[in-house]
Amino acid sequence: MKTSSLERFELQGRPVSIVGVNKSYGNYQVLHDIQLDIAAGEFCTLLGASGSGKTTMLKVLAGFEPFDQGRIEVAGRDISHVPVSKRDIGMVFQNYALFPHMTVRDNVSFGLEMRNVRGQERRRRVDEALELVSMQDYSERLPGSLSGGQQQRVALARALVIRPDILLMDEPLGALDKNLRQSIQLQLKQLHRELGITIVYVTHDQEEALHLSDSIVIMEKGRVVQSGPVRDLYFKPNSSFVACFLGECNLLRDEAGRAFGIRPEDVRIRSANERADHSVQAQVESVIFMGSGSKIVARVGDSAFTANVANTTPLDGYERGAIVEFAFDEQRVLRFAA
Ligand SMILES: Nc1ncnc2c1ncn2[C@@H]1O[C@H](COP(=O)(O)OP(=O)(O)OP(=O)(O)O)[C@@H](O)[C@H]1O
Ligand SMILES: [Mg+2]
Repeated sequence: MKTSSLERFELQGRPVSIVGVNKSYGNYQVLHDIQLDIAAGEFCTLLGASGSGKTTMLKVLAGFEPFDQGRIEVAGRDISHVPVSKRDIGMVFQNYALFPHMTVRDNVSFGLEMRNVRGQERRRRVDEALELVSMQDYSERLPGSLSGGQQQRVALARALVIRPDILLMDEPLGALDKNLRQSIQLQLKQLHRELGITIVYVTHDQEEALHLSDSIVIMEKGRVVQSGPVRDLYFKPNSSFVACFLGECNLLRDEAGRAFGIRPEDVRIRSANERADHSVQAQVESVIFMGSGSKIVARVGDSAFTANVANTTPLDGYERGAIVEFAFDEQRVLRFAA
């Protein structure tokens, strides 16, 4: 995507606070006392399993869904009762399809029409938005004649053209193949850096969350179970749930029966006579070549235990059924608050 028209774009990210938001559908409570502070210009990702309330949270932010308690502030101003069209919030949803009978230009233009931006000004802003996502050459096409990735870029231009303070994206890349997804992820990250816009992104793909985000909010059954900068969540998860949801994690128990975690990349094969902080004996189930290394899938008692080892590690003799000693350092052990 091009960035030549950036200085004319004049976007300014704004901070968002979600304060004690509760929401029910009938007597089923979907959001439980959500508290979140998102800084101006932050790329914040809501990550959670299907049904955990991510889309509902975005709809509440956008103003599509009313909520029962709490408030939403943008730059300190309570917007809880501001209608959708008056919130400067752009949206890109996976199934928020482009209007099929309208050209790319008209699709992007739509939000400006709704906001009574007319004539020259409207034309100029649509051109800028299309240029931003490198789709200026496709302005007279109909969406049906574009690839999935191109349609997604038009959807992004349509969201950006209103110059939103905040951009909400609900699994916008879910329908794309892996290569295209990674390419658009990179472009999105660059666009975010250059526009300085606040983004609230939804995905259930933990790898995508790690790649894109400044901060991650882990949701489970309508609650925030942990939120914070990406590295904090990865290196200091406060529960086994978070440790296993964001990245892979082996769970073990200490002598007192307390659960702790160790990530596969922090486990090594114990060398002969090595004095290690921790070691476990396991039985190999399979060795999977991953390209960048190998994953040894084994069992410790009744539990699965995996180790990711470098390609330089000799793996002769580690066939199915073999007994292997793994080692890891106390420093890498994840201890959980709860
Ligand atoms: N309009 C609705 N009426 C009643 N219940 C709803 C409605 N929309 C969502 N729900 C319920 O609220 C819960 C959260 O739904 P939501 O769509 O927010 O989940 P999600 O985290 O976005 O899941 P997914 O990853 O599958 O998109 C689900 O149990 C869902 O069935
Ligand atoms: Mg959803």
